[in-house]
Amino acid sequence: MLPASICSTGQHDTCFPSPGQASGEPSPILAAPLPQFPLPPPPPPFVGTAAPPGAGLGTQGRSRQHWPPAPQRLPTAPLCWGRRQGCLGDTGGHRGTLGHENLPARPRPPRKETQAPSAESTHGQGARDTPHLGVCPFPPQVCWLAPEQTAGKQKPYMYTQGQAVLNRSFFPCFDTPSVKCTYSATVQVPEGFTAVMSATSSEKQKDNTFVFKMSQPIPSYLIALAVGDIVSADVGPRSRVWAEPCLIEAAKKEYDGVIEEFLAVGEKLFGPYVWGRYDILFMPPSFPFGGMENPCLTFVTPCLLAGDRSLADVIIHEISHSWFGNLVTNASWGEFWLNEGFTMYAQRRISTEVYGLAYTCLEAATGRALLRQHMDNTGEDHPLNKLRVVIEPGVNPDDTYNETPYEKGYCFVSYLAHLVGDQSKFDAFLQAYVNQFKFQSITADDTLGFFLEYFPELKEKGVDSIPGFEFDRWLNTPGWPPYLPDLSPGEQLMKPADELAQLWAADSLNVEAIEAVDITAWRTYQLVYFLDKVLEKSPLPEGNVERLSKMYPKISKAQNAELRLRWCQIVLKNNLEAEYSKVKDFLHSQGKQKYTLPLYRAMWGGSEVARALAMETFSATAPQLHVNVQNYVKKILGLEGAED
Ligand code: BES
Ligand code: ZN
Repeated sequence: MLPASICSTGQHDTCFPSPGQASGEPSPILAAPLPQFPLPPPPPPFVGTAAPPGAGLGTQGRSRQHWPPAPQRLPTAPLCWGRRQGCLGDTGGHRGTLGHENLPARPRPPRKETQAPSAESTHGQGARDTPHLGVCPFPPQVCWLAPEQTAGKQKPYMYTQGQAVLNRSFFPCFDTPSVKCTYSATVQVPEGFTAVMSATSSEKQKDNTFVFKMSQPIPSYLIALAVGDIVSADVGPRSRVWAEPCLIEAAKKEYDGVIEEFLAVGEKLFGPYVWGRYDILFMPPSFPFGGMENPCLTFVTPCLLAGDRSLADVIIHEISHSWFGNLVTNASWGEFWLNEGFTMYAQRRISTEVYGLAYTCLEAATGRALLRQHMDNTGEDHPLNKLRVVIEPGVNPDDTYNETPYEKGYCFVSYLAHLVGDQSKFDAFLQAYVNQFKFQSITADDTLGFFLEYFPELKEKGVDSIPGFEFDRWLNTPGWPPYLPDLSPGEQLMKPADELAQLWAADSLNVEAIEAVDITAWRTYQLVYFLDKVLEKSPLPEGNVERLSKMYPKISKAQNAELRLRWCQIVLKNNLEAEYSKVKDFLHSQGKQKYTLPLYRAMWGGSEVARALAMETFSATAPQLHVNVQNYVKKILGLEGAED
């Protein structure tokens, strides 16, 4: 009905330069016509996400629509075309033993691919077994959304998510972060649709054809395309927001005038921003990440539209990838911490400059709590709790995803800064590091070797082998970080929250003391910190959570996704069945992996009623979830392989 196609420029017949070619004329993507919109039977819509202009996300004024769920039925209408198509990059067929989501599942050994030099280069079964030269018309992992799955619910939508090894389903490529190249693409879409890509230039030509060029060398995972009913609004001299028409006002309001400051501080700290524009695309609610740092065009969850700019840390994080990850890239997914640990450090440096040290330490404390939860769930000595992870051939790098590269990585970079002992000297090092390795893909040995060369006096002192803090131990030993940065500057914000959580955990509530604390002026991350403390102490004594819920509607009725996640976790840990509908509503409203998995884990580890809620909710929402998230939830619920 609505024809859409991606075309090659017709001038070249190869897709990518050979490895090592890292500059010059962009290489065109050679692609076949896209399938017709709309795609298979419409899955149930996410509810409560079609916000009126200016209202952000929420359920206001909207009646809930539920697709009639088939009880206990496994999803049959995939959001993204699944592995049954068996085309290039048949990633769905891979299962590893490393991922911590497979705990409730039947263990399966990793499939060894003996001809394979590395996990990244061999991940797609089809890529090795079936040498296609064209692109499958229904590639798995390219996400096709029916109108009901968008915010506006009028037109279909498609997008790609390349990281870690999904872009081999999108176009033929060396799908490893160790190879960089430029690209160009010509994309023709139907009238009424707009195409956007992670490219340094884009031009709309006749017949609704968009021509894109990325003039800087990038790894394959950073090539991204989205097509939908999307419009844009300027929010800064080199930035605009893109969103469906019904969200554009909210998007503009959330970020108007603030992006430039983040970019300018980033440039001051880490050197020139080489990507030209920095735009943001607000994705449909099923987008599985908070943000994805596609160069020139970050993709973000619409959950960021909180109405009060309180979730801008995600934007600062993705901007930080402009230097750490996109410019200096981990050469293998086993050293993902080089991307994420340095980015967390850079994010918090920018945040300190913009919002101050106290707020930044508070945000970092919430990050530390996530690492604590992760290590408690998996056991500290889990092999994934190392910075340098061994990813066997045949294991999907996405299955190794967890908090360690982020927060333990942050601790290691903070430790390096601590060894230097002078913030401005360490900032200068970071800038020199980016300059040294820009447009390259590197290993931790390159990073640490450069650090020791840059600070010869530290090398002389043998800082890489201080007992208990050996660089080798940081990289190769699982467990809690041997060094934690001092977060005490956040004490002024954390202490009242700590004390209030303590009061709520008492057997007999000191109502007077509780009422004396006014949380109405607390910022989102202070509330998040408080809720994490309440969660840690849960289950609370009988009746306390009900009272807390009544006393703080700002929390229990929050629309902010970070608060909703914590409140749902507290509801589940305290078996507060009266509020289980909030868990259901939240899971119906968005599909972010970091929100979805902890809630299913909590439900599955809870009562029979909670387990039934998990099954019912998954049955109703699974078709809308990104295929990776679907598979992880299946593992949690012990459904893995049920449909294979
Ligand atoms: N690059 C990641 C998202 C990602 C990681 C996608 C691995 C696929 C595989 C992105 O930069 C990220 O870390 N996003 C975070 C933001 C948060 C740490 C502020 C997210 O989505 O939660
Ligand atoms: Zn990141």
